[in-house]
Amino acid sequence: MAMISGSYGGWAPDEALIEHWETGVRPGFNYHEDRVPEYDLPEVLKTFDGEAIASAEGWIEHRGALLQVFREQMFGIRAEDPEWVDFRLLEEDPEAMDGAATLKRILIISSLKQRDFRFELTLFLPNDREGPVPLFLLMNNRGRENTDPTRTERSDFWPAEAVIARGYGVAAMQNEQLAPDNEEHYRTGVMRLVDRSEKPRAATAWGALAAWGWGASRAMDYFEKDPAIDAERIAVLGHSRGGKAALWAGAEDSRFSLVISNNSGCGGASISRRKYGETIADMNRRFPFWFAPNFHAYGGEGIDQLPIDQHQLIALIVPRAVYVASADEDLWADPRGEFMALAHASPVYELFSGERIDPGTMPASDEFLHSRYQGYHLRPGDHNLTRYDWDRFMDFADQLFR
Ligand code: GCU
Repeated sequence: MAMISGSYGGWAPDEALIEHWETGVRPGFNYHEDRVPEYDLPEVLKTFDGEAIASAEGWIEHRGALLQVFREQMFGIRAEDPEWVDFRLLEEDPEAMDGAATLKRILIISSLKQRDFRFELTLFLPNDREGPVPLFLLMNNRGRENTDPTRTERSDFWPAEAVIARGYGVAAMQNEQLAPDNEEHYRTGVMRLVDRSEKPRAATAWGALAAWGWGASRAMDYFEKDPAIDAERIAVLGHSRGGKAALWAGAEDSRFSLVISNNSGCGGASISRRKYGETIADMNRRFPFWFAPNFHAYGGEGIDQLPIDQHQLIALIVPRAVYVASADEDLWADPRGEFMALAHASPVYELFSGERIDPGTMPASDEFLHSRYQGYHLRPGDHNLTRYDWDRFMDFADQLFR
């Protein structure tokens, strides 16, 4: 364990913003950097037996054990891959977006243990393209109107026209179709493939975040089959709870070559032990169904017993690329904790690509830090996924996928 203390550079919220959160938005939580408790962060380059990891091979060996701990203690063990997957084209319009793109709406049918599960994927591919295109997949946790295939409604949450204009494909799935985002119904979606909702859940059963990620993997199955898409250049992206799910999807499925977490906060990119903004205890209370039942033991003081922290979730994505984005008014998500997790994962990147982010180099508001495999920016404004974020993600992808 490495003791984390001392100062971190860059941004700090002003007093008025802190007060706004303390007295208005979500009182009863910590938004002061000087009240972050001292804590021991599990060392990323150490095995569970306490041995130092000094090489890429050593990391690969350790990674399997780390992934298993995240499965069993946090997100749950997701269903295996389906025995077969079928794709039905529900609609195709080669003249979408005034001729700039081809729209495809696809029904993905997965079959496992004699049961079927269906959900939809919406995607646009640029018509002006040479060869297979790289693509961004949004794991959409907001309403369907944000990813309107007819483009009657347009939303900066999924600025499809702008993504097409930059030569990328853009796709979206509705997380709710995989697992409804509420305690009462979350087991009625894809979980029916493997468990019966009347039975109590196992301690390591998958939660909704893992179910959403399973859907992202099925979307990836489709990308691999469509010759117009370059399945080796797929970015999976999510905002907030969708960002937590995207990180886990990227950990579970190494076919994603870029994993983007936007304002994912607690349970996503930010360090849980900081107890800044949202806490594991509160998240478990409000959203227990997002996680495996085992995770419920780690609220409050139990956090010190948690064998992992979120920098290790990011490290599971190495050597593929990862991008973490924060917003400077989004104290609930702990912007500094999000940056720190990225920085504390980066010793693993160093083993593979020689790149390391120093925790003292947190960008100021409206600034970004892009290396080849790691990206970060701090957007001015509140909790949201906006055109600003997408523009930075595409800048990063331009150099990664070049
Ligand atoms: C709540 C929740 C967060 C989550 C967010 C969102 O604020 O506490 O953990 O990220 O909703 O999904 O917008």
